Formats: sequence, C-alpha cells, structure tokens
Amino acid sequence: MAGSSYGDVHESARKLVGKVALITGGASGIGECTARLFVKHGAQVVVADIQDEAGARLCAELGSATASYVRCNVTSEDDVAAAVDHAVARYGKLDVMFNNAGIGGAACHSILDSTKADFDRVLAVNLTGPFLGTKHAARVMVAAGRGGCIIGTASLASAVAGTASHAYTCAKRALVGLTENAAAELGRHGIRVNCVSPAAAATPLATGYVGLEGEAFEAAMEAVANLKGVRLRVEDIAAAVLFLASDDARYVSGHNLLIDGGCSIVNPSFGIFKD
Ligand SMILES: NC(=O)c1ccc[n+]([C@@H]2O[C@H](COP(=O)([O-])OP(=O)(O)OC[C@H]3O[C@@H](n4cnc5c(N)ncnc54)[C@H](O)[C@@H]3O)[C@@H](O)[C@H]2O)c1
Repeated sequence: MAGSSYGDVHESARKLVGKVALITGGASGIGECTARLFVKHGAQVVVADIQDEAGARLCAELGSATASYVRCNVTSEDDVAAAVDHAVARYGKLDVMFNNAGIGGAACHSILDSTKADFDRVLAVNLTGPFLGTKHAARVMVAAGRGGCIIGTASLASAVAGTASHAYTCAKRALVGLTENAAAELGRHGIRVNCVSPAAAATPLATGYVGLEGEAFEAAMEAVANLKGVRLRVEDIAAAVLFLASDDARYVSGHNLLIDGGCSIVNPSFGIFKD
C-alpha cells in the first residue's frame, strides 16, 4: 500500500504512543495500511503474515525500531503463540492485537457446488485464526494486568446475507460471536474486544474474489452502495481500527463496527427513497 493518503501526524495528535500492536495479515491490504497508520500514531508493530518478502519489505521501510516481521500462519497455534511471544520479547508487551488475516476462498456461490475443502480452509484462516489470536493475546494481556485491545476484521457479510460465499459468511458471522463472547469474558481484565465489518475495498483479496481490478472494481462497488459520491478505501478501514485501538474508544467493547456507508441498514428493493 505505497502512497497512503495519510500525511504525518503531529506528535500531540498521535493516538498510540507507547503502544505495541500485532497485526496478522499485515503484509497487504487493510493490514498493511493499518500497520502504516499505527506507526504514524506512535505504535511499535509486529507484522505477522505468510508473505515473507512483502512483510519484511514493509517493516524495513517502517524502520527496525518500530516494526518487525514474523512469519505466522494463523491456522497454526504454534505460529500464533510464537508471534505473540515475539511482540513481548521484542517490545516488552502487547497492547493491541489485530486479527486481520483472511482469505476469500472460492468465489463459488451455490451451496451445491461448494466444497468441504474450501469451507474448511476458509474457516481455518478466517475463524480459527482469530480464535488463536484472541486466545494468545489474552494470555499475555491478562498476565500483564494492564488491559488491552483485541480487534478482528469481520465483513459486511456478518450483517447482510447474499454478499459472499457460504464459507466466508459463516466465518465472519462466527467471528462476531467470538468477538462478543471474548468481550464478555475479558472485560473483567480491562480488555476490550471489537471487530470491524467493511464493505468492499480494492485489495488483492477483494479484487481477486470479484474478478475486477482498480477503477472497474470501485465503480462496480459504488453502483451497489447506499452512500454515493464516496468510495471505500483501505485507509477508511484503518482509521476505524485506529479508533477502536485508541483511548477514543476506551468504553467500546463487544462492538461490530460496520464500515459500509449504511448499506446494511437499507433494503433498496422497497424503493421509497428513489429520486
Ligand atoms: N477488502 C475487502 O473488501 C474486505 C471486506 C471485508 C472484510 N475483509 C477482510 O479484511 C481482512 C484483510 O483482507 P484484505 O482485504 O486486506 O486482503 P489482502 O489479501 O490484501 O490481505 C490479506 C492478508 O492476509 C494474509 N494471510 C492469508 N492467509 C494467511 C494465513 N493463513 N496466515 C497469515 N496470514 C495470512 C495474506 O498473505 C495477506 O497479506 C480479511 O480478513 C478479509 O476477509 C476485506
């Protein structure tokens, strides 16, 4: 995500000074943009991904004092535990866990053609991954006794049916359940647990799934959007994650923050607001 539209953030406006964050799926798309934004806001970040080259390149660019890359397949408990331990060993603690890694899976929309292999794979990355990330983040956060913040990337599919495959929809809806249940348990430790649910932004995952690139992708998404005249960008999602990670959201927990321009609350087929 070279060329983020965020400029420098004045020191007094930084929202994550002294915080340590771990971002899964941090080498690309939403995770990469969030890593850049977190660093601008004073955080030290661990980028965890399976794209070693992209992850290492990003961290080299952000600077070794503020960013480090670890290879971490989120479906492996050993990998996730090691990534969390790396954050604590390298930066002394973990304040923010962003369970963001995900895959689109097969762009197959019929239950008749959906395969068990794809269903299992999508749930392993998109649900078991955040489960492991939440578990191991909580392990070190509870022990440290300083509270913390855990954020997941769910999806518009968590709220609106018919927007993604069965596997993806199941994983993202269950992630909201995990978010709420973990928030219920971990609140007593001062740990907030939330998730964001974006509509579509042009990342490798989304463009690959939809089969359109760049302008064509954004125009297609705008055509079905409720909010007109503005297109969802990864920067908008990173800004929402920053809000949840910061003290601005210090009393927000168990929340699924939809970043969808209001599309989940509208049923356009009734057509009462047509021009
Ligand atoms: N882009 C969108 O429109 C959109 C909308 C809603 C939700 N999301 C969610 O946002 C999250 C980030 O996706 P993105 O759109 O930025 O796509 P992306 O493809 O740019 O980034 C996903 C990252 O996850 C990593 N990843 C995949 N499998 C992994 C694994 N097993 N272990 C570790 N890392 C792994 C990839 O290498 C990649 O860097 C996903 O959870 C996705 O479901 C995206």
